[in-house]
Amino acid sequence: MALNTINPTETVAWKKLQQHYSAMKKASMKEMFQADDSRTEKFNLKWNDFLIDYSKNIINQETLELLLELAKETGLKNAIADYFDGGIINQTENRAVLHTALRAKESTVINVEGQNVVPEIYEVKNKIKAFTNEVTLGQRTGFTGKLFTDIVNIGIGGSDLGPAMAVEALQFYKNHLNVHFVSNVDGDHVNEIIKKLNPETTLFVIVSKTFTTQETLTNSETIRKWFLQSAKQEDVAKHFVAVSTNIAKVTEFGINPDNVFPMWDWVGGRFSLWSAVGLSISLAVGFENYDELLSGANEMDEHFKTTDFDKNAPVILALLSVWYNNFFGAESEALIPYTQYLQKLAPYLQQGTMESNGKSVGRDGKPVNYQTGTIIWGEPGTNSQHAFFQLIHQGTKLIPTDFIGFVKPLYGDEDHHDKLMSNFFAQTEALLHGKTEEQVQAEFDKQGLGADKAALLLPFKVFAGNKPTNTILIQKLTPKTLGSLIALYEHKIFVQGIIWNIFSYDQWGVELGKQLANSILEEIHTEKVKNHDSSTTFLLNHFLSNK
Ligand code: F6P
Repeated sequence: MALNTINPTETVAWKKLQQHYSAMKKASMKEMFQADDSRTEKFNLKWNDFLIDYSKNIINQETLELLLELAKETGLKNAIADYFDGGIINQTENRAVLHTALRAKESTVINVEGQNVVPEIYEVKNKIKAFTNEVTLGQRTGFTGKLFTDIVNIGIGGSDLGPAMAVEALQFYKNHLNVHFVSNVDGDHVNEIIKKLNPETTLFVIVSKTFTTQETLTNSETIRKWFLQSAKQEDVAKHFVAVSTNIAKVTEFGINPDNVFPMWDWVGGRFSLWSAVGLSISLAVGFENYDELLSGANEMDEHFKTTDFDKNAPVILALLSVWYNNFFGAESEALIPYTQYLQKLAPYLQQGTMESNGKSVGRDGKPVNYQTGTIIWGEPGTNSQHAFFQLIHQGTKLIPTDFIGFVKPLYGDEDHHDKLMSNFFAQTEALLHGKTEEQVQAEFDKQGLGADKAALLLPFKVFAGNKPTNTILIQKLTPKTLGSLIALYEHKIFVQGIIWNIFSYDQWGVELGKQLANSILEEIHTEKVKNHDSSTTFLLNHFLSNK
């Protein structure tokens, strides 16, 4: 079934939300908290090991009801069914979108073109399991018989960001293998990595859904050349494996077909860590932990699929984001995990969110007349507090922020964790309350500051507050809770795409730059600059005459 094409701004709910926004735009969260003792009770969700408090948002019951009405009117329910059932919801590429199938239980039946894909998925999962065990237990060795000590994931975009983020996030659960990631076509990147490696003990995992990506093929060739300085051609088979849909191209590269882990065109690159793209995660933390990651995502899938929208975590987070994006005109959202382990979560979700929902044409083929994709950014707390929080607290922009924290630290260091989490709670409280003139004045009085100096300083020390935040408090960072957390944001992206009436699963916008880069590369080689605008010609000539 094709997705419907409803312009959200033409729905009844949207019009009501516009009116409602006029009443809410100046609403004070502080006053709403004072007026209603049960506000937090109303606006929080408890699910598995997650507590999501969304009471610190500029909303009331009516806001929520209208946003839920919008979800209903834009056909979210049917769209969710289509998404999970393998409907062709990536219409511009004529594909289903089934990363959820990759973490489905073995007994599930999910048909693509009349064929149940779950048995194939489990076949590949079993191959990942066997391979992981052989490498980690030392049953598979390098060309001189030495054990593997290092793994290099060669890929870019979705073939890099997901595994890199998850390996970093699950460092605590890691085994003896060192895992490296080479992504950029910048030769300095790959050379910095290979200089640390011993070809005899390094396994290379080339990850490319299409196996045509310039960066990945260039890096793979550079690495193969480097490898062949110490090994023979036939040793390539022992040290290089690949993950791809393009088996012909992979074999052409010289990889043994037995060492190819297939994936499918119904897995989008940015949602592919659940497929064999996650091989380096499995190698880093062991198959059992990798499988736990998948099962955490599957539990979130079930929650999303079966829970009423008013208690549905991805739906609520998506609707709140629509509220700020489309009514308050917020341009970006920050994502602040209070754990160093999740330092790559924001870059990872930048691809998920911005490649998916950075679209300006509606599903009806017409330009949209409203804002779509949010800009996502962030860094772990408390580091980010000492970097950009000033702007969130006192700048001119509204930046709705998700705070992600954990009740338990992994090494059990209570002293550090209590300090970390005090900051976590303090920030959302400060963003809510701000600091009034009276409070600032009272501080000055206490310090005995003279009236003149106090009057001068006062405006700079006042915080307006009323800055919206969601608090996602999770029991502990485990493979399972990480899986659920990623799936939570994946489904948020989906819900927003449905409401905004866009196709979230293609990425035509990245193609033009790739095409132009290829034609410029030819010119760089021939040293002849052809028909460009004067700025590009000027820059290219400067580069060519100085290189
Ligand atoms: O640049 C866009 C993109 O197509 C991403 O969507 C994808 O994750 C990445 O390139 C890498 O593609 P591939 O896995 O085919 O090498």
